[in-house]
Amino acid sequence: MSRKIQIFDTTLRDGEQCPGASMNTQEKLVVTRQLLRLGVDVIEAGFPISSPGDFQSVQRIAAEVGDKAIVCGLTRAVEKDIDVCAEALKGCPRPRIHTGIGVSPEHLMYKFRGMSLDEAIDRGVHAVKHARKYVDDVEFYAEDAGRASFEDLARMIEAVIAAGATVVNIPDTTGYNMPWHFGERIKYLCDHVRGIEDVTISVHCHNDLGMATALAMEGVRNGATQVECTINGLGERAGNTAMEEIVMGIRMHEKELDAHTDINTKEFLQASRLISSITGFPVQPNKAIVGSNAFAHSSGIHQDGVIKQRETYEIIDPADVGFNGSSIVLTARSGHAALRHRLELLGYTIENDEQFEQIHKDFLDLADRKKEVLDEDLHSLMGERERSESALYVLKATQISCGQPSTPTATVTLIDPFGKERTACDFGTGPVDAVCKAINKIVRADCELTEFSVQAVTHGIDALGEVTVRITAPDGQVFSGRGSECDITVSSAMAYLNAINRMLRKQS
Ligand code: KIV
Ligand code: ZN
Repeated sequence: MSRKIQIFDTTLRDGEQCPGASMNTQEKLVVTRQLLRLGVDVIEAGFPISSPGDFQSVQRIAAEVGDKAIVCGLTRAVEKDIDVCAEALKGCPRPRIHTGIGVSPEHLMYKFRGMSLDEAIDRGVHAVKHARKYVDDVEFYAEDAGRASFEDLARMIEAVIAAGATVVNIPDTTGYNMPWHFGERIKYLCDHVRGIEDVTISVHCHNDLGMATALAMEGVRNGATQVECTINGLGERAGNTAMEEIVMGIRMHEKELDAHTDINTKEFLQASRLISSITGFPVQPNKAIVGSNAFAHSSGIHQDGVIKQRETYEIIDPADVGFNGSSIVLTARSGHAALRHRLELLGYTIENDEQFEQIHKDFLDLADRKKEVLDEDLHSLMGERERSESALYVLKATQISCGQPSTPTATVTLIDPFGKERTACDFGTGPVDAVCKAINKIVRADCELTEFSVQAVTHGIDALGEVTVRITAPDGQVFSGRGSECDITVSSAMAYLNAINRMLRKQS
């Protein structure tokens, strides 16, 4: 039997950490259900001490997961962090505390203001011992291991293993390494660290040089048996190792690597679209494995080759990663049961019949306009409901006039947090500018619109148009917002208001 490589998903922690990708607890639960369908081994649910919201999300995720996967919470090597993390994981059948401290000269000098390596090791050892008082499974990360000397890293790793760490995480936090250097680093640890054969070696690689998947692969080749990754490679800065890439890479080269994962790869496309729809981070069409062009052949020579034999230009059967997997199309004639069943399969829980009736009404409204409702449309519809349920300001109506030659003008009516209807009108350089200005007249939010993008949710002229915006608050915090409607000027108003609502909620 080949080595089992554990898949540790950190979409809900490192992925969520990237500016504008934050998710609320409900969204995190939908993602959790998708991670369970993928069959990941470990779910890093959050950083409990960072906010009451994160603490609560970790608790809810742990309850949702039960014993189906290990649930992990992140901490610094600080007692209080560990206490709070242990509290959030209380009652979880398979809890893991993930604690750690910096090891590179850069981190010791600047982040820890000249701390010596010995002191960092002492703190790491103390943190591991403290965490072991609560749980049997403690993972230690040596932050910025990618820029530490092999010897310093080995000393720290040996000390935390002796203190009781069960998993040692070797992150290339800054994505600095070349794949072969990273591989040598893992091999060095395997050859020089006492006790390493008794623990799991994990790799956690960032994509600053576009190498995250290659780095993790070299880690696996040289002895790592856990890979930390995210759906679509979401994560800090340029992101992390993409789960779909590392898992398919391992599968393609299973024999040579003597390794396998237990991931249900048919769920990749669904997972990718879900994360994109929840975070508002679009997937580039040429993204490996899950991009819309990943299996599209355009040149005549390639088309001819694929028609003769698929393998001529395709190394992966598209069905193995979920393409064409979902042929379910709902229409206005689909009954209640079909809609309920599909929503449940997509990971949504319906609280009660009354809530379901409202969802059905929204569904019929969409199906009347769009004829065929696909899974992506259902994600948008459920996302829109979730956003309006938790909104401070709700969009009640918009009226937009534009065209050439005329001045784009928008009138919007919002329901304010006190339930009062407020209407304003403004003009702008285009309809989106006009609608945002009209919203600003009512909300008076202090922010700048820094990104705007629009994407069709599905194919066809009647597709929902999903608008994603990012706004920047005066303190530099970024908030994303999404809106989907058939009319993209209405989607724009929804997206802008959604971002403002998120900002106002954070500030309140
Ligand atoms: O990139 C990193 O080093 C991390 C650690 C917290 C594991 O995310
Ligand atoms: Zn990271």
